Amino acid sequence: MALIYITRRIPVAGISLLEKAGHTIDISLEDRPLTKTELLAALKQKPYDAVISLLTDSVDADIFDAVPTAKIFANYAVGFNNIDLAAAHARNVIITNTPGALTDAVAEHTVGLILSLMLRITEGDRFTRKGLYTGWAPELLLGESLQGKTLGLIGAGRIGARVAQIAHLGLGMQVIYTDMNSIPGLETEVGARFMKTPEEVLKEADVVSLHVPLLPSTQHLINAERLRMMKKSAYLINTSRGPVIDEKALVAALQEGVIRGAGLDVFEAEPALAPGLANLENVVITPHIASSTVAARDEMAEIAARNVIAVLEGKEPETAVKTA
Ligand code: GLV
Ligand code: GLV
Repeated sequence: MALIYITRRIPVAGISLLEKAGHTIDISLEDRPLTKTELLAALKQKPYDAVISLLTDSVDADIFDAVPTAKIFANYAVGFNNIDLAAAHARNVIITNTPGALTDAVAEHTVGLILSLMLRITEGDRFTRKGLYTGWAPELLLGESLQGKTLGLIGAGRIGARVAQIAHLGLGMQVIYTDMNSIPGLETEVGARFMKTPEEVLKEADVVSLHVPLLPSTQHLINAERLRMMKKSAYLINTSRGPVIDEKALVAALQEGVIRGAGLDVFEAEPALAPGLANLENVVITPHIASSTVAARDEMAEIAARNVIAVLEGKEPETAVKTA
C-alpha cells in the first residue's frame, strides 16, 4: 500500500491505525526534532505518499520539494505556524491539523497555570523544598482568589471557550473576550462580554489569557506598550505560541512590577527562555506540555492517522487547514 514517513515517534494509537490500513510506515529513530538537513535526507529516501510532521518541524518549500510524491502533511498539532501554507498550496499538498483533540487538555492546563500563579502553588513548593518553611504564619505567601476576578480572553476559539466555561462555571470568574466576531453562545453560557479590541480586554482583565494562533498579525501582540495597558495587579497566561508575546519586554515588565505575574507554557525561542525569566518568582513556567495528556496525545495521533488514511483513499480529510 502507501508509504508514510513520521518525523518522530507519536503515540501508538495513531501508528496502529495506519498499520491496520495496510500502510508501510517509516519513523525517525531520533528522540529529538530532525535538523532541516536530516529531514530533507529522510524524506528523499523513498517516494513517500504522506508525511506526519510535528510542530517542531519547519515545513517549507524545500521540504515539500524533497518529497514531491506526498499528497498530505498531517501536522500533529492544532497550531500550524510551522508550515508554509502558500508553498503547500502551490504544490497542491493537503495540510491537516488536530483541532478538538487537545481542547480540554490545553484549557485545563491554562486554568492550572492561573491557579498555580494566583494561589502561589509552585512558588510555595519551591519555598518549602528550599527549607524556608519555618511554621504557619497569618500572612505567609498570600495569594489572590479567582472568585469574582475578571478573566480576559484574547481569542475565544475552542480552547478559549473551554477556559471560559471552567473559569466561570467552576471558579466564579467573570469573562470578557475579544475575537474577530462576538460569539453569542459564549455570552449566553457564561455571560461573557465581547470587546472589540485586545486593548479593551487588557485594560479591564485581572487575568489575561492568550488563545490566538501565531500569525503575522499576532506576532508580539503583547509588547511593552500593551503590557503597560494591563492592571499592575494583573496576570498574563500564554498556552498558545511563544512569539505572541515579546518575551524580553515581558521579563522587563515582570521585573519592574508593570504586571503582577505570568504563567507560560510556550516561549519565543523555545526551548530557550528569555534571560532573567527563570529567576523570577512571579512566573510559573512549564515546558510546552499543555496538550500533553494521555487522552489528548492519543487522539491527536488518531486524527493525524485518519487524515492520512482518508487522503490516501482519495477522500476528504476530517480536519484540513485552508491553505489559500
Ligand atoms: C500544541 O502546541 C499544538 O499546537 O498542538
Ligand atoms: C483548539 O482546538 C482551538 O482551535 O482553539
